[in-house]
Amino acid sequence: MTSTARAAARRAREIEPFHVMALLARAKQLEAQGRSIVHMEIGEPDFPTPAPIREAAIRFVEKGKVFYTPALGLPELRRAIASHYRARYGVEIPFERVVVTTGASGALMLACAALIDPRDEVLVADPGYPCNRQFVRLMEGTPVAVPVDAASGYQLTPALLEQRWTQRTIAALIASPSNPTGTLVSTERLSAMAELARSRGGTLIVDEIYHGLVYEGDYTTALAFADDVFVVNSFSKYFNMTGWRLGWLVAPERFVPEIERLAQNVYLAAPTPAQHAALAAFEPATLALLEAGRAEFRRRRDYLVPALRGIGFDIPVMPQGAFYVYAGCGGLTRDSFGFARDLLEEAGVAVTPGADFGANAPQRHVRFAYTSALEQLKEGVARIAKFLERN
Ligand SMILES: Cc1ncc(COP(=O)(O)O)c(C=O)c1O
Repeated sequence: MTSTARAAARRAREIEPFHVMALLARAKQLEAQGRSIVHMEIGEPDFPTPAPIREAAIRFVEKGKVFYTPALGLPELRRAIASHYRARYGVEIPFERVVVTTGASGALMLACAALIDPRDEVLVADPGYPCNRQFVRLMEGTPVAVPVDAASGYQLTPALLEQRWTQRTIAALIASPSNPTGTLVSTERLSAMAELARSRGGTLIVDEIYHGLVYEGDYTTALAFADDVFVVNSFSKYFNMTGWRLGWLVAPERFVPEIERLAQNVYLAAPTPAQHAALAAFEPATLALLEAGRAEFRRRRDYLVPALRGIGFDIPVMPQGAFYVYAGCGGLTRDSFGFARDLLEEAGVAVTPGADFGANAPQRHVRFAYTSALEQLKEGVARIAKFLERN
């Protein structure tokens, strides 16, 4: 019998799977069977949400009045986020430009929806955060993957933008520090890229989700030198709030009315309990806990990078932030996907194959996340070393 049922739309069919999810599911299955697995694939902090944030949420929910907030977010939270820019970077942002969203994901979606017309091109680094391509595709735009390597710190550069910018290009999307490489774009380069985009009638979308988790190197927000760029951020990573689904977008002032209408229509508002919880995110007691988390991530990075180099992985650039190491495994395997599978099955270590991050030599890279305790990371490295001796 032939089916007349309509298939999913092309944009939905063309969304690529997140390979790490299948890997995580297999890791959980092995754990359910009693195997010990070292997790180095998970892209979220292993620290609990700080107590002041949880307590603020509980106080709010107990009152029982859990209603929608305005689409742009709770005014108090928008003001608190604007004050955060003053306190952390010395940058004044009118709170009216701050849009509270459902994570950086919601912010990326709104920025793309506000900017992209069909067939518009957006430049993205390859390797890069996989969802960026999908957001552009979802808006019927064309993501243009620009290969980046160690020489450019795995980031787009003014020269690459110059080379790849066409009549169709409307923006470049930059994450600093980057997922999967943990590398920063220097302030000088970022401001040169903002200038270049401006001179071509375009803009930048700058994803600052890993700000706060930087272990060395000077950095600032793109808002310090440009008020015509879109800056994405989130409570997920530095603030240890992944599951609360809360982030923000700072948009150029003239885009805010359209963004407000988009948010109203697409999701009405970000979760209200999460917004009330986040009011406690910038308190000194919370920030002290978060800074302790940052110090712990740094300790893990400082152990992991030399340890991986010592067993044959190629890490040409020290990651300066986030909690990832993008490691070359070309000297160990020709197939990072099979390598990740074998590491999980045979050594009980879960890592993410390069295929999740683009088409630029993915078979020669894997991503390690140091979102497990130091002892676990040491155990993981020992298991990988044994696995490599056997194979
Ligand atoms: C670079 C980057 N941007 C955005 C996100 C989305 O984060 P969230 O929606 O939890 O804020 C992630 C998550 O891993 C990420 O790595």
